[in-house]
Amino acid sequence: MNFSQKLKSFQERIEKHLRNDLPDSSARPSRLHEAMNYSLRAGGKRLRPVLVLAAHDLFPGPYDPIHAALAVEIIHTYSLIHDDLPAMDDSDLRRGSPACHRAFDEATAILAGDALIPLAFEQLAKGYKHCPELALQLVGLLADAAGSRKLVGGQMEDLLAEGKSPDADTLSFVHANKTAAMVEVSMVMGFLLSGKGSDDALLEEVAQAGQSLGLAFQAVDDLLDVTSTSEELGKDAAHDHEAGKMTWVKMLGLEKAMELAEEHTHRALGKIENIGGENKFLRELAEYMLRRKN
Ligand code: IPE
Ligand code: IPE
Ligand code: MG
Ligand code: MG
Ligand code: MG
Repeated sequence: MNFSQKLKSFQERIEKHLRNDLPDSSARPSRLHEAMNYSLRAGGKRLRPVLVLAAHDLFPGPYDPIHAALAVEIIHTYSLIHDDLPAMDDSDLRRGSPACHRAFDEATAILAGDALIPLAFEQLAKGYKHCPELALQLVGLLADAAGSRKLVGGQMEDLLAEGKSPDADTLSFVHANKTAAMVEVSMVMGFLLSGKGSDDALLEEVAQAGQSLGLAFQAVDDLLDVTSTSEELGKDAAHDHEAGKMTWVKMLGLEKAMELAEEHTHRALGKIENIGGENKFLRELAEYMLRRKN
């Protein structure tokens, strides 16, 4: 299989489980479950769950990574629903469709996001109940990545920085936490479910690769905001720019911001090389994440 076939097969596996393993839209209250499924099934690149599956496949291993893959995508989707709310980024378009609060209403979108958080942890608790120690470890790692010091903390500082003149310390904090923490934990969880999950030195390389990939990813996201169209992105283009978001583009200009994304990708590739194993797909994925157009 070449890179795009493999990416597609990972994405299809994730889509299938997102369709089949989660509460049906008819579950009461149906409006809430409809809103959750609306956002979960709206598409999206599924890069974080793909990273879980790809990190797992570095070394043939005994555990099924799909539950961890679903858990990270569910947390990510909640973070997008809340990110788009009027009180946050006030975005109308997400994954090529009206944002959750536009398709439903604000209260429903808030509740749909809320409900996705425990659903993610339920995936881990139920999916790995036969290996409780591992389940506990995964729950702890995901809670840390999604929590007040990381994802939510990054979102807080992102909002606090709106309209301020950019500084490297704030930008580094925001990118490391609102974005890179979830990318890192995706790779770490996948790796822990592989046959080499107990190798601490390798685990550290995996974490660092994930962190660098995540930093590159957000740098590119900020670039695309100004260089791409809403149609291509499936979300409101030029939106962060108009809201006065603090970005590397604003601080360094387009060219330097792209160089920074390339540097982070280069660093990630070095780490992925060090990890070894079946790493061809991950190396290609890192390049794809850098060159992506949406
Ligand atoms: C968007 O993430 C939010 C950021 C952290 C930049 P993605 O670009 O991965 O969004 P989807 O999941 O493909 O919609
Ligand atoms: C959001 O960053 C990161 C999240 C944790 C959701 P952005 O606000 O830049 O993401 P987009 O551009 O709306 O997808
Ligand atoms: Mg935001
Ligand atoms: Mg946003
Ligand atoms: Mg953005």
